[in-house]
Amino acid sequence: MNKIFVIGATGQIGSELTMELRKRYGNDNVVAGYITGAEPKGILKESGPSALADITDRNALAAIVKKYAIDTIYNLAALLSVVAESKPSLAWHIGIDGLWNVLEVARECGCAVFTPSSIGSFGPETPAINTPQDTIQRPRTMYGVTKVTGELLSDYYFHKYGVDTRSVRFPGIISYVTPPGGGTTDYAVDIFYYAVKGDDFICPIKPGTKMDMMYMPDALHAAIQIMEAEPARLIHRNAFNIASMSFGPEEIYEAIKGLKPDFKMSYQIESLKQSIADTWPDCLDDSCARNEWDWCPRYDLQSMSKDMLEKLSLKL
Ligand code: SER
Repeated sequence: MNKIFVIGATGQIGSELTMELRKRYGNDNVVAGYITGAEPKGILKESGPSALADITDRNALAAIVKKYAIDTIYNLAALLSVVAESKPSLAWHIGIDGLWNVLEVARECGCAVFTPSSIGSFGPETPAINTPQDTIQRPRTMYGVTKVTGELLSDYYFHKYGVDTRSVRFPGIISYVTPPGGGTTDYAVDIFYYAVKGDDFICPIKPGTKMDMMYMPDALHAAIQIMEAEPARLIHRNAFNIASMSFGPEEIYEAIKGLKPDFKMSYQIESLKQSIADTWPDCLDDSCARNEWDWCPRYDLQSMSKDMLEKLSLKL
């Protein structure tokens, strides 16, 4: 990786990944791709180059890749699971037609490509506990359908054309910087905003509903480490299970309450979110990532909760 193009650079993951890549590879070597209405601001805008990059416009992507002599593309454009259920056709257009554009440009220009998959790529028939790397993937959401298709298409481009595609299956990602929008796991971010403001939190997910989650620093580390991994060691490519913590709402509540004893939470279940969460695994087995590229997360529920509360208190 020398010259990097981040598509979706102002989104939940992109806004932090772009800055992390600039720290590592140099400000001028990381281009922040954005769409109209989500222009970069502040340090993201000022620290390096940016370009209007609609993933559905293949010519625009190719022009940016050529202009900046890009060798690696981080494709972070996507609709999250809940919003994708209300706009399935747009979710497909961005997730799959968009990915096809990225892969074609990568094939023509010799770029490596990272396109995240998700715990949402699994479904109700998948073993829910210690979900294996290679297992049944029959998701019931459009988000999941695009993620499985994306994994297959990325593997296809690797085997057929030699495009260096690599990916991880992200859990719900928790961060104090850019809030997620329209995901099933968003509650695990929202809960911290309520706790820091001193408000009671109404949880949309039932107690006992376990899902994999990850603190943003570990997610960024995974996205960079997989692209830097020694290719000869990779048996898998699209996409690796990664994991660091798995909890239900009552467990994250207890972790926060341990640090903020007055914090209160009640439940008002949102049926769409609950029905999606019920089809996702409880906890993934990430041993292939550990063996093939030394994946090792740094945060668990306790250390993440402590850091989130500290950082969010400063921010708010
Ligand atoms: N955070 C995503 C969602 O909830 C899952 O990867 O949609």
